[in-house]
Amino acid sequence: MEDQASELKAMMQNRLEKGAYQSGGKLNANKTRIIAITSGKGGVGKTNIAVNMAISYAQAGKKVILIDGDLGMANVNVLLGVSPKANLLDVVNNRRRMSDIVTETEYGFQFVPGANGFSRIANLTEKEMKNFAKEFSTLSNADIIIIDTGAGIATNVLGLLTAADDVYVVTTPEPTSITDAYSVIKIIATEMLENRPNLKLIVNKVHSSSEGKRVAERIITIVAQFLNYQIDYLGFVYEDTTVPSSVLRQKPFLITKPDAKCSICIKHIVGRIEKTPFDSQEGFGRFFRKFNRKW
Ligand SMILES: Nc1ncnc2c1ncn2[C@@H]1O[C@H](COP(=O)(O)OP(=O)(O)OP(=O)(O)O)[C@@H](O)[C@H]1O
Ligand SMILES: [Mg+2]
Repeated sequence: MEDQASELKAMMQNRLEKGAYQSGGKLNANKTRIIAITSGKGGVGKTNIAVNMAISYAQAGKKVILIDGDLGMANVNVLLGVSPKANLLDVVNNRRRMSDIVTETEYGFQFVPGANGFSRIANLTEKEMKNFAKEFSTLSNADIIIIDTGAGIATNVLGLLTAADDVYVVTTPEPTSITDAYSVIKIIATEMLENRPNLKLIVNKVHSSSEGKRVAERIITIVAQFLNYQIDYLGFVYEDTTVPSSVLRQKPFLITKPDAKCSICIKHIVGRIEKTPFDSQEGFGRFFRKFNRKW
């Protein structure tokens, strides 16, 4: 796995060094912000956060595309209660175009379905990556692309993270989740040494705002001390029974319970993201440059 990761990184680095994106800045002008949501430990709330962030952005009038970047155990479709006929795997295998699989939701955003049970997830061939990169570039008219990744660092997860303007690592206050968040940050810090993303923490399932802050500060301090990497705290989401009940009903909580504590937290997080600048000269063009050159 490590070999694949370094191979992918080398390929992307090579592309970066070969020069700038060539299409005259047309894509850059769109200023698409690419956000990736990841975690060390599984089941910490990434998909719920990603789906509801997409809704919050859509409600603010932005054009949002949510990508279920998990080809192993896709679950955005489960939270939305839809059963897409085709998914990202069909794009990777060159059976479908991205435009065929992008699905409208009733919540004002579009989503790209992931796949289930694809065991070669950590091992996409170069041709498959090429197909993905080519088709990904067709999403450049979005304001925001939110990529929900699987837990841990598979090679393709690392690839997606490298492409993002912002990477948000989700953790809960549980010690195992904190340890795994640190591990994933360590991998990002070492594997993406020359191109470290703008990395921020989201602490989910907290009982108070001070608990969120405490957990984040602990991780930020250790990361600064041992990895010499400056990361920030983005925000927290309260532990709230609204979340599991909305999962059961397959209706996102921001829609069914917009005033619930969890919904308000998501809106705060989106508000904070919007207040933080990202490199508008880069945006989608950076991703395109990394992934799409001469594959
Ligand atoms: N703030 C919260 N309060 C209460 N329960 C929550 C909260 N966030 C998530 N959960 C619960 O945690 C479980 C996992 O959530 P989710 O599927 O979003 O995690 P994930 O990180 O995407 O998981 P995976 O790693 O498997 O993709 C769900 O059952 C959900 O109901
Ligand atoms: Mg998930």
